[in-house]
Amino acid sequence: MHRDEIPTPALLLDLDRFERNLTRMAAHVRAAGKNLRPHAKTHRCPEIASRQVAAGALGVACAKLGEAEVMARAGLRGLLITTEVVAPSAVRRLTRLAGEAPDTMVVVDHPDNVRALARAAAEDGVTLDVLVDVHVGARRTGTEPGDPALALGRLVAEQRGLRLRGLQGYAGHCAHVMGWAARRDTSHKAMAPLMETRARFEAAGLPVEIVAGGSTGTYNIDLELAGLTELQAGSYCVMDLDYRRIGGRAGDAMTDFEMAITVVATVVSVAADRAMVDAGLKAFSTDKPFPPEAVERPGVDYGFAGDEHGRLTLTDPSRAPKLGERIEFFPPHCDPTFNLYDRVHVVRGTTVDAVWEIAARGRSD
Ligand SMILES: Cc1ncc(COP(=O)(O)O)c(C=O)c1O
Repeated sequence: MHRDEIPTPALLLDLDRFERNLTRMAAHVRAAGKNLRPHAKTHRCPEIASRQVAAGALGVACAKLGEAEVMARAGLRGLLITTEVVAPSAVRRLTRLAGEAPDTMVVVDHPDNVRALARAAAEDGVTLDVLVDVHVGARRTGTEPGDPALALGRLVAEQRGLRLRGLQGYAGHCAHVMGWAARRDTSHKAMAPLMETRARFEAAGLPVEIVAGGSTGTYNIDLELAGLTELQAGSYCVMDLDYRRIGGRAGDAMTDFEMAITVVATVVSVAADRAMVDAGLKAFSTDKPFPPEAVERPGVDYGFAGDEHGRLTLTDPSRAPKLGERIEFFPPHCDPTFNLYDRVHVVRGTTVDAVWEIAARGRSD
């Protein structure tokens, strides 16, 4: 299929850019002597995850159990579920998943959850691999660093059905701090308690074979930490407008990784002062305070105009869009944009190379 034949709106992945992103991150992590377990929450697509593993990743991180189930059934291993699994029915699904993919790991931040996991693991005859999730300032999940984390680690280590592997600390509030120097400062401060907790675990003889964390925004910051063993960045493989604007080590835009996804839309109506495209609230993430951006198509500004429509305001009347014209846009935020599509069209130049299923789309359970 030619790129221009893809029905719109559609999600496109530029294969050349995507592959360069994988190669760059793999080389960076290797040079730092660390491991990479990229976050599949970004794309929810087993084919992308497989390519990340082929490029050297240990496996993938999954935000939710449902994502992990899809990844495991697609043959991926080395899964780390980075959100606590608490509901009794979910705990049962987790033990079933551990039966299928025994190296799957889950994080914990509460003693009751530790005991519930241990009970279910014993009843179902599996061993669950566990990381202690440490709160590093994002005010989301995680036990407090230091003594509380140590106590939780000891509790995990005592459970017969559980195997303690180490620690996770995700400082999400640092990922989008504007400017590399400010981001580095914020992230190192946030991650220091995790490193101290690691030292306490070591002194107590608890395993710290894995200490996981980090994001695309801090990929070349957190790897400076001697005690971090693996990076769980996600967005780097495709990037988005939100990440591009945070600035890189070298300048005002984060250009370390290339913008590899776009949404293609068709101009379906034209008027004197505007044009409408067939991509609206259902085609792009809407969680950022800035709109999608037309790619190499000057003269128009995109604004949301309802579920199915986007309004193009003409900033250069000499470049007024034509009825039927196809325009591609960079989405503001990659993760929730992927989650809007059943499949991604993979393009190399003008050719559609493949269509990959976003098989874990909607699997926030
Ligand atoms: C637990 C966890 N780890 C890592 C990441 C990093 O992802 P990204 O590189 O896309 O910012 C996220 C993103 O939300 C996350 O929730």
